[in-house]
Amino acid sequence: MDLLKQKIETEGIVLSEDVLKVDSFINHQMDPNLMKAIGVEFAERFKEDKITKILTIESSGIAPAIMAGLELNVPVIFARKRKSLTLTDDLYTSTVYSFTKQESNNITISKQFITEGDNVLIIDDFLANGQAAIGLADLVEQAKANISGIGILIEKSFQPGAEDIISKGYRLESLARIASLKHGKVQFAKEHHQENSYSGGR
Ligand code: G4P
Repeated sequence: MDLLKQKIETEGIVLSEDVLKVDSFINHQMDPNLMKAIGVEFAERFKEDKITKILTIESSGIAPAIMAGLELNVPVIFARKRKSLTLTDDLYTSTVYSFTKQESNNITISKQFITEGDNVLIIDDFLANGQAAIGLADLVEQAKANISGIGILIEKSFQPGAEDIISKGYRLESLARIASLKHGKVQFAKEHHQENSYSGGR
């Protein structure tokens, strides 16, 4: 997706060989026009899939997910990382380990919001090691709903998440794929536009 790649090129800051800072348009300040365009793009890619729910995780997945939900006209659920005071219902829970932060989080959703028969599109901002996406997929599996696919804004193709997700049989749609962050530079790989095949990102 050209608009997102342009933003990354002009405003992304390469912090290290592993980490790209996108605080000016995704992770802190957010660009509503970009988010709107991202919603349109995901809606276009999943228009044949009869999506009934979108699932994301707080916090940075929420903006693109709500825009995709607006376009597809379906509800958006965000998994919580911390237990909420009012989240007293029956919950699906999965454990997500962050290699970056070296900590585990329990993520939860209320059982009432995803049920058997739902076609769920999972959306998140970054795909690194894939633990968040796999944890979200686990919640959907627990609900016995169908996972229509996983939509990612920025995939770091040099980390294991993308291959892991595809090897598990999930459809992955990444709007920008980064092959490398070496020498302080963003090098893009080809976009995923796939029906269960992996074109390789290295
Ligand atoms: P994983 O889910 O793919 O396994 O990733 P990991 O544990 O490594 O990521 C932990 C957090 O760091 C996630 O956000 C993820 O989105 C973010 N992250 C991973 N790689 C990058 C990167 O290169 N740049 C930036 N800016 N973020 C990255 P989080 O803690 O859940 O935060 P948030 O959604 O509340 O913002």
